Amino acid sequence: MKKILEIEEVFATEILDSRGNPTLQVTVILEDGTEGISMVPSGASTGSFEAVELRDNQENRYNGKGVLKAVNNVNDIIGPELKYLNVYNQKEIDNFMIRLDGTVNKSKLGANSILGVSLAVAKAAANSLNLPLYEYIGGINAKILPIPMMNILNGGRHANSSINIQEFMIVPILDTTFQLRLQMCSEVYHCLKKILKERGYSTGIGDEGGFAPNLKNDEQAIELIIEAIEKAGYETGKDFMLALDVAATEMHEEAKSIDKQGNYLFWKNNEVKTRDEMIDYLCELVNKYPIISIEDGLSEEDWIGWKILSDRLKNKIMLVGDDLFVTNIERLKKGIELGVANSILIKPNQIGTLTETLNTIQVAKMNGYKVVMSHRSGETEDTTIADLAVATNSMFIKAGAPCRSERTAKYNRLINIENEIINS
Ligand code: PGA
Ligand code: ZN
Repeated sequence: MKKILEIEEVFATEILDSRGNPTLQVTVILEDGTEGISMVPSGASTGSFEAVELRDNQENRYNGKGVLKAVNNVNDIIGPELKYLNVYNQKEIDNFMIRLDGTVNKSKLGANSILGVSLAVAKAAANSLNLPLYEYIGGINAKILPIPMMNILNGGRHANSSINIQEFMIVPILDTTFQLRLQMCSEVYHCLKKILKERGYSTGIGDEGGFAPNLKNDEQAIELIIEAIEKAGYETGKDFMLALDVAATEMHEEAKSIDKQGNYLFWKNNEVKTRDEMIDYLCELVNKYPIISIEDGLSEEDWIGWKILSDRLKNKIMLVGDDLFVTNIERLKKGIELGVANSILIKPNQIGTLTETLNTIQVAKMNGYKVVMSHRSGETEDTTIADLAVATNSMFIKAGAPCRSERTAKYNRLINIENEIINS
């Protein structure tokens, strides 16, 4: 017989994220006094097909970014409805909230309210059973630690610098433990800092903890990173590969602003590329550098371009859909049908419930798409994505640089999970 433990109380609080903007903390309390607490992240380069993050838009408060409406939705609408429900019925609770909202994109109650509750319910359930979250969600099969795709140089929307590509990541492919991979990444990060300092570039950091120097161009970023890998005593191509998040939807939006529809504007140096030029550029980068993965190489609506790019590159590298798929099962299915991309970025707040997140991961895996669990550029000390990565045996995780506590919190959580798994 299925165990029953009732939800006693659900409430939300407005807290701050790593950019100093408001976000939600949600607490779920069970009848036996067990608590589950979650904090909701927030993106800057958000896809337009993401579930809606409800903000107050009240200009005289937090520049319109307050989330008191979302807090009230948890306290006054969702919370009372969940009272007495069985906390172990995650699927039913998530589906109930989806119905309560009633819109396709969670715009009524807000995906931030709904996700906060969904994750806090799972955490309360795990805590009540004295299980770590990864084990509660993934069972005895949750055992593979993800490989970090570590963003050590920030550009695009995440940095006030000259660099257009949003993320330059190092990927420690050497077959070893998570802890050693983390050490390797941290060593490269610090070598990059030394190199930047020696050459007179800024070592200030962007939103995800990577450096944000004003370099001559985007390719120089790749070259400096390769130098840093070698300076740290590692071999590019053998110990490390590189990954990029172009975040091309942002470039496409910028092109629209100067009336170049269908094109891509590298807005930091005012260079416009057509779709074909963009595809050629990405193929050139792949031929020239040891790149294992390109995320959002084209915009969220450029399915035709994505198909051409996929035909040219999908047997060579990972093509990751972030804004393209937005963790949405329907968009992923469209991609599968069209033969577009071969990997998916998973951000729970793009879709708004744990259940939908898990369903999307399952469809991705069944169709051979690689899974990259991901943080947002606006984060908190919440470490749920670390547990989720292990619970779902995701191959990769994006959690930013080994710097800034909201990023290292996820890596530190993974160290502890690895130790638990090794010692169990
Ligand atoms: P975001 O960026 O959280 O600002 O959307 C992360 C990403 O694009 O992967
Ligand atoms: Zn992205």
